[in-house]
Amino acid sequence: MKNMSAPRVYCGSLREGDIGKRVSVCGWVARNRDLGALIFIDVRDREGIVQCVFDRSVNDELAEKAFSLRAEYTVRVTGTVRMRSAVNDKIPTGKIEIVAEELELYSASETPPFEISDDVNVNDALRLKYRYLDLRRPSLQKTLAIRHRVAKITRDYFDENGFFEIETPILTKSTPEGARDYLVPSRVHPGKFYALPQSPQQYKQLLMLSGFDRYFQIARCFRDEDLRYDRQPEFTQIDLEMSYVDVDDVIAMQEGFIKRLFKEVLNKDIETPFMRITYKEAMARYGSDKPDLRFDMELVDLTDKCEKCGFAVFENAKSVQAINVKGGGDKLSRKEIDALGEFVKSYKAKGLAWLKTTSNGEQSSSFAKFMTEESIQAIKDKAQVVPGDLLLCVAHEDEETAQNAVGALRCHVAKKMGLIPAGVYKLLWVTEFPMFEYGEDDEGNTRLYAKHHPFTAPMDEDIHLFDTEPQNMRAKAYDIVLNGTELGGGSIRIHRSDVQKQMFKALGFSEEEAQARFGYLINAFRYGAPPHGGLAYGLDRIVMHLADTESIRDVIAFPKVQNASELMTDAPDFVDDKQLRELSIKTDIEEK
Ligand code: AMO
Repeated sequence: MKNMSAPRVYCGSLREGDIGKRVSVCGWVARNRDLGALIFIDVRDREGIVQCVFDRSVNDELAEKAFSLRAEYTVRVTGTVRMRSAVNDKIPTGKIEIVAEELELYSASETPPFEISDDVNVNDALRLKYRYLDLRRPSLQKTLAIRHRVAKITRDYFDENGFFEIETPILTKSTPEGARDYLVPSRVHPGKFYALPQSPQQYKQLLMLSGFDRYFQIARCFRDEDLRYDRQPEFTQIDLEMSYVDVDDVIAMQEGFIKRLFKEVLNKDIETPFMRITYKEAMARYGSDKPDLRFDMELVDLTDKCEKCGFAVFENAKSVQAINVKGGGDKLSRKEIDALGEFVKSYKAKGLAWLKTTSNGEQSSSFAKFMTEESIQAIKDKAQVVPGDLLLCVAHEDEETAQNAVGALRCHVAKKMGLIPAGVYKLLWVTEFPMFEYGEDDEGNTRLYAKHHPFTAPMDEDIHLFDTEPQNMRAKAYDIVLNGTELGGGSIRIHRSDVQKQMFKALGFSEEEAQARFGYLINAFRYGAPPHGGLAYGLDRIVMHLADTESIRDVIAFPKVQNASELMTDAPDFVDDKQLRELSIKTDIEEK
């Protein structure tokens, strides 16, 4: 190796303490400035940028070579660190510079399709097509460094707490009851398919049966579902399972983990234990099973004040839910309130009823004219409306639909009014989720589905409701929520075959169907199943919060776009007919 006397250091690592040292830096040319006698080259690597100076009066040939460098050329500069005459406060290396003595050009670069900088506005598709260049941006370098830290802390924490990291298969069996599977055709078994795992759920339960009583895995999961800002078809879970535990044990272990993550990554002290609220309370107070607690504006249930209020829409509804937007009457215009009406319609509300007051005593409303003075006053009293406030109400025949619409409105309005403080982390557990929810099957029939998954245990006091009121059963299931995002979720599992049988029955599976779909798990439970439970976090979502990014794409090196394709490689793509023939697959796509 060259420059044995000058060790390679990271550009971004140099500080005043390095003054006088002879060092080598390697990286990309970020900027080249020619001041006549002096040439300044900024060199960038994953840790940051450092300024290198070439002095014509000392070595004209070397300075000329530096002068010819363009953006994104890859170089090694060797020289001695010295104090800068003009300090740059904006970068951590701003007090020093390297006086160059040697310059090696590793490779030139064509003009890149966009400037490698966080300050330049470039369209997303172009960035993703050239993702390897986009990843050179300092913000993405930082985010992926945080991702690495999270993985490392995960391994350390769970190892220290006696967990084994065990890998589970990627080529698995398709099990219905979740999102759509990604399928992989088998060549050896024509007509048969593997499924990529949506999560290692069943394998980790089997590992508990095998005696690995504390398991974790940083597991890649695949779900063929619609993409969103916090959802990718291919994502990573921190997945774990423990034997001989109940809800409190799992939760306590997780609080230690989250505390450690925040301390080690952000140097933030997070208070434990976290707040816990039941699903029912979360829906009633925040209209969400993942409430954002960074601001108040809790829901007000106006149903009892509307029974004989005179306004048919409210009287006929089973539930009237509202939020009082403090100061919103002064701040929001009629037009803006109408837009909020459109907003709630996308959450299954039929419309938005409102009452707007101003600090100078004016009042207008979409419903007041239909009501008696008394009823209006009763509503205002319950919602504690004072002059300047804006009351927003949704009435619906289904309570959860009304709560959900107002809950979404609560977050939307808080964002609009700038009520969400930056740098605040509100963590909580939502517990006692319902066991079941109603959904439609492929034939359009309404039936019960497991809200979490079919292996989640019911609360002991609700087991007797399987045959009579399954819809009212609560599960030993919990979600961890941060600032309105579901970071993770889990449950205590069913370990008794009789309870599992009742569960499959409630889901409408015959014994034969249950055997065909989950036989291996049902059979395994016959051989001494320990009580167990666990949880999985979305690792990507944790990193999004720690890196303070808005999109899950920012925390994944090579993400997919909205239509689930990857713009750089053009995956998915057609394959040769020969490959298809080997897999015994015929497609009816004619044009490729
Ligand atoms: P669940 O389906 O709730 O539970 O998933 C756990 C966590 O994984 C993350 N997540 C996702 N992140 C990005 N993109 C996606 N498409 C996506 N889907 C889920 C979320 C979520 O909270 N086996 C159970 C866990 C258990 O019971 O132990 C499971 O997978 O952060």
